[in-house]
Amino acid sequence: MGFNSSIQKRASDVLFERRIAAEKRAERIKEEVFQKCPRARELDRQIAGTGVQAARAVLKGGDVTSEMKKLRDTNLRLQEELKHLLADNGYPSDAFEPKYNCALCGDTGYIEDDNRTVVCKCLKQALVQIACDELNRTAPLALSTFDSFRLDYYDNRIDPSLGMSPYQLMDRILKFCRSYAETFTPNAESILMRGATGLGKTHLSLAIANEVIRRGYGVVYVSAPSVVQKLEKQYFSRGESDDSLMDLLTDCDLLIIDDLGTEFRTQFSVSQLYNVFNARMLQHKPVIINTNLDLVEMEKVYSHRFVSRISGSSTKLDFVGKDIRVRKNSL
Ligand SMILES: Nc1ncnc2c1ncn2[C@@H]1O[C@H](COP(=O)(O)OP(=O)(O)OP(=O)(O)O)[C@@H](O)[C@H]1O
Ligand SMILES: [Mg+2]
Ligand SMILES: [Zn+2]
Repeated sequence: MGFNSSIQKRASDVLFERRIAAEKRAERIKEEVFQKCPRARELDRQIAGTGVQAARAVLKGGDVTSEMKKLRDTNLRLQEELKHLLADNGYPSDAFEPKYNCALCGDTGYIEDDNRTVVCKCLKQALVQIACDELNRTAPLALSTFDSFRLDYYDNRIDPSLGMSPYQLMDRILKFCRSYAETFTPNAESILMRGATGLGKTHLSLAIANEVIRRGYGVVYVSAPSVVQKLEKQYFSRGESDDSLMDLLTDCDLLIIDDLGTEFRTQFSVSQLYNVFNARMLQHKPVIINTNLDLVEMEKVYSHRFVSRISGSSTKLDFVGKDIRVRKNSL
């Protein structure tokens, strides 16, 4: 995945901090044990000493094998005594070992796999997280929450064409979105939010974003016009090739594309958006799409293939009611 160097630097700083914190914690425990039990300090010093002696023995030459065996035996004996001492004082036998956040890589971000050094999934996650934060910095995330979503804006009278009142329908939609966010996993279903302007699509999708981010997932919220513009800029700019945005759009845990249909459409924009949706759907990664267009209009604008891909694999939420921007202003 191609992230720019500033994101890479920040991610490696995050892991570095974790590593240092784990090591400091282990040091604190060591000091605590030493205070209670001075013999432990002595043993720890001697264990470290056998390492130094081993290095010296190798440098000195001579009968290295037998010298090393002696040192190894001494080391094991000391370790054994330390283990008992720790147990007697109520500590686990590995109390002096740092407890890293990621047991796979010891918070270094890299692991050995088949003699190759590869990026650990914890570093990948940190990269995605930071890149998402970066992209969301300008999104109006904080204001729209489930708690600030009011149902009294929607009419309580039964609408025969709906078979229920707009209030009831929106109550269902609110409950669906809340439970979606609270039980979100990176293989959750996709959602297509449709409906006229000012009915709460953006509000509820931001509420989902807030909750899913709070639960520790990498979420990208973008509007179709801005993402298409960014992709074009990145694609057509000369200089080093950079697909970090495309990577992030396909790799984040949840992608929210707001206002689909209001972007400036070109063959390029349509195909890029299709590629993003397609790549995500092949990996069963969810997308939330908001649009004013109905399916027939969507088919006219995009292709049949495009629309059937999206609508075939998502839960459709049809928002109803009267423009809440207007209602809010007149109340
Ligand atoms: N049920 C609601 N309770 C409180 N505020 C709401 C509710 N629905 C919408 N709003 C507010 O009304 C404004 C318009 O809503 P929103 O932006 O979510 O509409 P939208 O469906 O995304 O419209 P558009 O299709 O134009 O993008 C926002 O400020 C939003 O916070
Ligand atoms: Mg909107
Ligand atoms: Zn790791």
